[in-house]
Amino acid sequence: MARLRLDQLRNWKFKGHRWVCLTAYDAPTARILESSGVPMILVGDSLGNVVLGHESTVPVTIEDMIHHCSAVRRGAPETFVVADMPFLAAQVNDDEAIRNAGLLIQEGSADAVKVEGGGVRAETIRRIVEAGIPTMGHLGLTPQNATQLGGYRVQGNTPESAKRIIQDALALEKAGAFALVLECVPAALAAQVCSQVGIPVIGIGAGREVDAQVLVFHDLVGLSGDFKPRFVRRYAQGEEVFRSAVSSFIEDVSSGGFPGDSESFIERDGENAEMAPEA
Ligand code: KIV
Repeated sequence: MARLRLDQLRNWKFKGHRWVCLTAYDAPTARILESSGVPMILVGDSLGNVVLGHESTVPVTIEDMIHHCSAVRRGAPETFVVADMPFLAAQVNDDEAIRNAGLLIQEGSADAVKVEGGGVRAETIRRIVEAGIPTMGHLGLTPQNATQLGGYRVQGNTPESAKRIIQDALALEKAGAFALVLECVPAALAAQVCSQVGIPVIGIGAGREVDAQVLVFHDLVGLSGDFKPRFVRRYAQGEEVFRSAVSSFIEDVSSGGFPGDSESFIERDGENAEMAPEA
């Protein structure tokens, strides 16, 4: 599949074609997503809590993001990859924001970056876009400042906060954002935002009436322990599958059933010396 183009995204919105985006932080996951036909991969700063074992996204650094983003690119060379700007990468000043976004593109091989925050980030987004870097906005629940928002909770559920989210969405579109993530907002508000902006709205916990849905891959396949927010649907019980594989391995080793002849190098004359048989 050819790499997604930004004009295609606008066309999809126009035609009402619904699509998906999933997170990845490593090459094997990226390979699975690319071979499943996922058009957009997000290297989210959810990296922090999902795979690095932190309690939030705040400890994630630009170096972490570059490291994981380039792994994702190696696993999914044909897929459109968006990299999150981690905590403070876009907030200190616009020059630093452009430089950090540039690192994610140059060293992380991302196609685009995502910046959390409302209208207050519009000017920064405008500057990053002006520097030639496609930029996605992120409104609603923005995990980098969850403490200020009163925790991980639904946003935009008062008339004033709903109005602010709509105004922010319009401001980010005007600043040149090519798409918006809208996280944890009432479905009716998300539908309103989606109909008022001309750029794709990618929802997570934002109901059905948006252009696309994004989820964290580990939540989708059951690799996130007991963590299961209301907006997640688990399509596999990944931890059970892996636990069962590990138990079978332990059993086979203790019974002497592993390795078998086919998993051993038993020829002495140098034949079949390759580690992996040719496909
Ligand atoms: O970091 C992330 O994974 C995200 C998505 C949940 C949208 O921002």
